Amino acid sequence: MKSLRIAVRSLCLLALIVAGSLPLCAQRLAVEGMHGMVVSAQQFGSEAGVEILKRGGNAIDAAVATGFALAVTYPVAGNLGGGGFMLVHLADGRDFAIDYRETAPAAATATMYLSPNGQPIAGPGSSTLGWRASGIPGTVAGLAYAWEHYGSGKISWADIVEPARRLAEEGFPLSQGAVASLRGAARLLEQDSESRRIFLKDGRFYAAGEILRQPELAATLARIQQLGAREFYEGETAARLADAMAAHGGPLTRADLAGYRVMVREPLRGSYRGHEIVTMPPPSSGGIALLQMFAMLEPYDIAALGHRSAARYHLFAEAMRRAFRDRAEYLGDPDVVAVPVARLLDRDYLTRPMTDFDPQHATSSRNLAPGLGPVASLPLPESKETTHFSVTDAAGNAVSNTYTLNGSYGSGVTIPGVGILMNNEMDDFTTAAGRPNAYGLIQGSANAIAPGKRPLSSMTPTFVLKNGRLILVTGSPGGPTIINTVLQVVSNVVDLRMPAMQAVEEPRIHHQWLPDVLTYERYGISADTVAALRTRGHRVEERASYEGAYQGAASTIAVDPETGLQRGAADPRRPDALAVGFDGPAPSAR
Ligand code: DON
Repeated sequence: MKSLRIAVRSLCLLALIVAGSLPLCAQRLAVEGMHGMVVSAQQFGSEAGVEILKRGGNAIDAAVATGFALAVTYPVAGNLGGGGFMLVHLADGRDFAIDYRETAPAAATATMYLSPNGQPIAGPGSSTLGWRASGIPGTVAGLAYAWEHYGSGKISWADIVEPARRLAEEGFPLSQGAVASLRGAARLLEQDSESRRIFLKDGRFYAAGEILRQPELAATLARIQQLGAREFYEGETAARLADAMAAHGGPLTRADLAGYRVMVREPLRGSYRGHEIVTMPPPSSGGIALLQMFAMLEPYDIAALGHRSAARYHLFAEAMRRAFRDRAEYLGDPDVVAVPVARLLDRDYLTRPMTDFDPQHATSSRNLAPGLGPVASLPLPESKETTHFSVTDAAGNAVSNTYTLNGSYGSGVTIPGVGILMNNEMDDFTTAAGRPNAYGLIQGSANAIAPGKRPLSSMTPTFVLKNGRLILVTGSPGGPTIINTVLQVVSNVVDLRMPAMQAVEEPRIHHQWLPDVLTYERYGISADTVAALRTRGHRVEERASYEGAYQGAASTIAVDPETGLQRGAADPRRPDALAVGFDGPAPSAR
């Protein structure tokens, strides 16, 4: 009897492992939910989304509520004053890419961040700091568009915005991580009196557990709640924002705000080992680079190379190097420059980059000519802190959303009386030809600044489908590393069959063509693996970045298409990240 019980138990355990619910070694478990899942970088943001799911909203309603809430509870990247990309998957199989990226104001020029002697301006007035660094924010318009077109129709606009308004008015307790983040940004935030007052407590700093209240932001959210998203672009909020800009030499005007438009784009689709990859088109560079890398990797038996092996890291770094080389050369805002998307994703073309791949030797980035030769113009830029959230519901709808202020806390400017932190997304343009941007990216003329143009991005919200059914929702912050983080998470699931949590926790590497360096996360690679990569000729360095030794934060959901079970994997690289599942009794009507 006892041996029968043991046998049954072993069988169950085996079944669970096969089903992918258990980690394959000691490691955290994903959060499970049958009716829905929200994974974001901050607890109250995730909870705001689940609150909406529980009231009968769909994944899109929940994502919009999370987007607003993170603007309050995760000011380092959550925003109303920035922009981003939302990928929507509907239960009926349709996918949409909502581009609510910032655009350059009418007064923008290609040389606006250069001094008269042609040198990049440093400090306030530059593309990264202060009033001149912002593009026209798209977040409020993007979230509203999503709710209006893809929401369930069961949750009012006022109810969607309410969790955020409440969090701003009543406040929320700051975590240790949030306090450390604010302190870490003190040098930026203290340069602006509103930012200093609101986020640094006038220089006295918040302690963990203290309540952060943002009454001006609450009032702004209340106006948006009552008057709709256009209030932000044409109402009192717009007027205050434009007046403050004018008073401080910022370029954004009322006309810029009134003219802002969301773009809905066809997502890019590609395949990888029998899976369909749905991802972000330009003005993100992410989708193209991701699909290029998958096409380059597909001929190799990656499962046989094994995880954390020098052979796999070498192969990946060589694919990354080649995709980033094309990125630098050919990508920009597709509404302004001709981006050769079809040619860059052509399967025949993509057999070429790896013809000189040598399993034993690194290729020199400087010797890699852009794959298509000269096309029209040049490349792209990047930024610092961003955030990704993923949402699913019981009906099969999903959202993969990455949005940003670019740098941590954006330009550092908070609009007086409005409580909104502004982006410094203008640094994602090519601000000075041939010079690396804040992310070390060299960019080209395709990404030059022009009025109304959107800066090139690396944000890569992504879905993976199998047999037409959604199995993975993922994305990440991290500037150019985003693309490689998404690549590795998806490869971990598809090639190595890792459960979602393990796929997210797995150490990551990054290569972006130039600088010609392969970086890895601290403790992520063993010393002998590093040595094996160096023997192949790679310059290998431990990551040292504003975000510490980590690469990205891939808020991920895996969906079991057979049972509908959703597994949320919050990335441990963000201390406050949380997956919140909606389990228990089924929601009444959907
Ligand atoms: O759009 C981009 O690619 C950048 N502005 C993203 C910046 C970013 O991911 C910073 N994150 N840690």
